[in-house]
This record gives sequence, structure tokens and C-alpha cells, in this order.
Amino acid sequence: MRTFELERIQSLYENTVDYNLTESGFHPFSLAELLTPDQLQEMQQLTLGYGQTNGAIPLRDQISNLYKQYNADNILVTNGSSEANFIAMSTLLNKGDEVIIMCPNYMQLWGIVEEMGCTPIAFNLRSEDKWAPDLKALEGLISDKTRMIAVCNPNNPTGYVLNKAEMDAIASMAKAADVWIYSDEVYRGAELDYKESTSFQHVYDKVVVSGGLSKAYALPGIRIGWLAGPEEVIYNAWSYHDYTSISTGTISQYVAEIALSPQVRPGILKRNRDMLNQNLVTLKQWISQQGDLFEFIPPKAGGMAFMKYNIDINSTKLSTWLREQESVFIVPGDCYGMDGYIRIGIGERSEYLIEGLTKMSMAIKEKFNL
Ligand SMILES: Cc1ncc(COP(=O)(O)O)c(C=O)c1O
Repeated sequence: MRTFELERIQSLYENTVDYNLTESGFHPFSLAELLTPDQLQEMQQLTLGYGQTNGAIPLRDQISNLYKQYNADNILVTNGSSEANFIAMSTLLNKGDEVIIMCPNYMQLWGIVEEMGCTPIAFNLRSEDKWAPDLKALEGLISDKTRMIAVCNPNNPTGYVLNKAEMDAIASMAKAADVWIYSDEVYRGAELDYKESTSFQHVYDKVVVSGGLSKAYALPGIRIGWLAGPEEVIYNAWSYHDYTSISTGTISQYVAEIALSPQVRPGILKRNRDMLNQNLVTLKQWISQQGDLFEFIPPKAGGMAFMKYNIDINSTKLSTWLREQESVFIVPGDCYGMDGYIRIGIGERSEYLIEGLTKMSMAIKEKFNL
């Protein structure tokens, strides 16, 4: 199987450097920060059985509230949204199908689609358009082999969020061609303007959506994600889940239910959006001090900045050199098939981000005589 470069280099190096700027989410919560003393006490009494394998009903109820007219039967709880993505492709695709994938993109779907004997086709967002989709170009990619249009919204890595008109246009193209929309919405909730982005489920019915608690909720370690979609698809997806992992952890489901409760959820999202806004100011100041070194279109959501750099070096070489010589780790654009770009996580604590950025810019200036 094609190596999933982005995940592999992160796994290899993120714990070996002084400044890991590859994190794509927010500084994670501790259990003590998230739970009350009573809840921590209650957790000790949990029975550690398998639980309901498609997800505890109260948890699925809570997740379904994030969508219009859905109930617990429209939800499958998974181990991270990565398992949700894997299961969804297995459920919806057949060998030989074409899948149009919004790019740049967290490249998990690309690898899975290829491995299944389907053909991934890139639908490119371009910096010249400030990452807005070229809808005419998308329409031109649809053929009678197209089974699905897969989007990542809010987008990893550009932070672009589709507006209502763009979503409606994509939905009407999908409807005309009778194809699925698959929408990875794991960054929903991490919008800089504090307004929750619209789920594709709200604009189209032949849609399956993935979501999870790893990004906007800063809880990647509990590995809770989900699929939301038509009952029949979710029921079939559950069969795949029986083969992949049976169920998610009982402790994780307990924590997830608290995180998604109306009492706790708004506070989590506010904490992370505040962090993002504050760090974006810091990042913009830092970029303006670097002359023409970077070109940057600020994200509308998500925990990262995707920037073009104006020095003559391949992005993987730049990332490797910074990691090995300066102990600063950034994601090379090569992981997205976009050499000339780097991705920097901006969901971290401010001081850490500033220190890492400063170390990086000093090293670049020295090496390239800027
Ligand atoms: C767009 C996107 N989807 C899915 C995932 C998988 O995340 P998880 O399995 O932790 O929910 C990631 C992780 O970086 C991501 O960026």
C-alpha cells in the first residue's frame, strides 16, 4: 500500500524534536481539565465491557444533534475519523469507480481509494483563487464512472471553508450526476469567526459525513470519530466496523459524551477558537517580519497555516534540514503533492509557537543569507 507520508513522518519524528510545529489540532485537554471531580469519580466505576458496538445510544443521540433531522440510527461511532473514512470508502465504493477528491487534502482517502482499485481524481483548490473551488473545473471532472465527490470541509491544509453558494453548486452537480458526496468535517467547530460551518448533510441527501473529536475538540487521544449518513449506509458501515475494531473504548465514549454535552461543548470550542485567533495574529506578525519569504492566505478554520515560501529548496529537504539541524519540525508541502509550501500548526500554546517560529526564521535567514 502507498505510504501515508504525512502520518508516517509525524509518527517518526514528532516526539524527537524540541519544537513540533506539525500538530494539526489544538493543544489537547487533560482529563482533569475536562471533567469535574464528580465525573472523575464516576469514571472509576465504569464497567469496562465492549458496550454497544456501534456506539452508546446517548452518545449517538448527542452526535446526531449536530445534524438536521438525524437520530442515533444515522450515526456510527468509530475509532477516530480516520476509521470512519476507511469504513465509508469500503461501504460506498466498488472497484473501478472514479472518486473526485478535493486537493490539497489530508491524503488518507487518496491512498484508500487507490488501494481499493478505484481511481482518485484531483479537484485542485488553487492559491490564485484564494483556495476557493473552481466549480466549472469540478463539473468537467465528473464522468459516468464517478461514484463520489469527496471534500474536506473545513479543508486540511488550507483552512478554506466552502460558502453556502459553493456547497449548493457542488450538491446540484452531485445530484445531476447521481453521485455521493463524502464530506470529511473533522475540522467543523474550529472556525475563526466562531460560526459553525454548515455540514454537507444540511444541503444534500446522498451524503455521508465524517466527524470526530480530534481537532476542533482537542481530544485526539480518546480516538472518537463518527460517520453520519442515511440509515441504510450507516447500518452497512457497521458491518465493516465489526471487522475493523468491533467497538470504541468504553472510557473514551464516556469522555466523548461529556465533551459533546450542551454544558461542556461550547466552552471547548471557544477555548480552541480563541487560541486559533490569538495565534493567527502572532503568525501574521511573524510573517510580516520575514519580508518576502512567505506568501500566506489566512485560514478560515482549522488548526494550521499552509504557506508558500520563496526560497529555492525542495519542501522535504527544508523540513528535514530544520528538523535535523534546528530541532524544529514542519510538514513539507510534498506530503500534499505541493512542493514549495509548508504547513505549520497554529493550535499550540502561544509561547511554544513563537519560540519555534523564531528558531526557524533565524536558521533560514542564516542559511540563505537573507
Ligand atoms: C482532514 C482529516 N481527516 C481525518 C483525520 C484523522 O483524524 P482522527 O482519526 O484523529 O479523527 C485527520 C487527522 O489529521 C485530518 O486532518
